[in-house]
Amino acid sequence: MSIKAPSQTKEARAPITALLMEGVLAAVPHPLVALDGNGAVLFVNPPAEQFFDVSAAVLRRQAFSAVLPFGSPILALIGQVREHGVTVSEYEVEIATPRLSPRVVDAHLSPIVDVAGGVLVMFQERSIAQKMDRQLTQRHATRSVTSMAAILAHEIKNPLAGIRGAAQLIEQNASESDRTLTRLICEETDRIRKLVDRMEVFTDRRPVEGRPVNIHEVLDHVKHLARSSFGRGIVFTDNYDPSLPPVMGDRDRLIQVLLNLVKNAADAVTGFKDAEIVLSTAFKPGVHLTVGGSRDRLALPLEVSVRDNGAGVPAEMQTSMFEPFVSSKPKGAGLGLAIVAKIVSDHGGTIECESEPRRTVFRLRLPMHR
Ligand SMILES: Nc1ncnc2c1ncn2[C@@H]1O[C@H](COP(=O)(O)OP(=O)(O)OP(=O)(O)O)[C@@H](O)[C@H]1O
Ligand SMILES: [Mg+2]
Repeated sequence: MSIKAPSQTKEARAPITALLMEGVLAAVPHPLVALDGNGAVLFVNPPAEQFFDVSAAVLRRQAFSAVLPFGSPILALIGQVREHGVTVSEYEVEIATPRLSPRVVDAHLSPIVDVAGGVLVMFQERSIAQKMDRQLTQRHATRSVTSMAAILAHEIKNPLAGIRGAAQLIEQNASESDRTLTRLICEETDRIRKLVDRMEVFTDRRPVEGRPVNIHEVLDHVKHLARSSFGRGIVFTDNYDPSLPPVMGDRDRLIQVLLNLVKNAADAVTGFKDAEIVLSTAFKPGVHLTVGGSRDRLALPLEVSVRDNGAGVPAEMQTSMFEPFVSSKPKGAGLGLAIVAKIVSDHGGTIECESEPRRTVFRLRLPMHR
């Protein structure tokens, strides 16, 4: 690829700069491929050779399309980058050819300045353990819990109300020791009722009424709620992108999502002296998601993240935390993230988590209101 050197020392500097540039690209730990305006491979780094299981020399002799699966969305993205001259990211693209076993990658494509029609393609392999992306799990979890929640709401709430009423009647004429028991019945029925109420989110099949929502206002509201209850003593930091356009969504349900994420973050940082929760927003116009099976691509340019410096998601939770009733907490119902996944999916958005000790980030991607 061509590199611009300062004009007065062009001859002397250019080869060194180009070498340096190649060295930098070779050191990037992700597969990188630079293409010219005709789709021929100009440069590949060693991770790309490993990824495609072909040497750089062989790759350079052919068109890039030859190593991609037939009809791969990457080819369309290359066309888009050329046409609009913008950086494009596509998440969860499957790369499988007769030669290669299927792999799922995030692809980032940018125009190369100075090379007409040149495009730099970078793949980031998604390893389940590393990125803990819960796209598929969350849809599955949502489906399986929807029918169960409907049954529970119907079959449990009504008898529960009867049990509670009966206990209250008995209480009126009961001795003091029996009253302890009737109170226990009331408390436990209340606990079950709350659980069933929380699960009712899953039975809600109404489409989200898309209204413009100022997500900063939602975040401030959640922060205020947290500070005055479970989040006392925690430092809350915001890192908002002031130019963020409104989200397309349902304010109350988005509050529910962020409250659950912030509550989990608060639980995670409890006990740490430097407990901090960082709420961030960013506008990423190039982010798209391919909807499973179809060729439709959703624009999800609004990124909202909740970061904490707690101990991190326990290893045994990492593959299942978005599923209902999965919890590592003594009093946890394990419903928070399942509810989050359901609401985010109803909004046509995505959620993923990256976690390591002292740094856990839950990242939401949401559509913009137009
Ligand atoms: N920020 C976080 N840091 C560390 N672990 C987390 C974090 N968020 C979630 N988890 C893990 O994921 C599990 C599931 O979270 P989820 O919110 O679904 O349930 P819960 O918090 O245990 O219970 P509930 O939300 O119903 O009160 C948690 O028990 C915890 O182990
Ligand atoms: Mg929770």
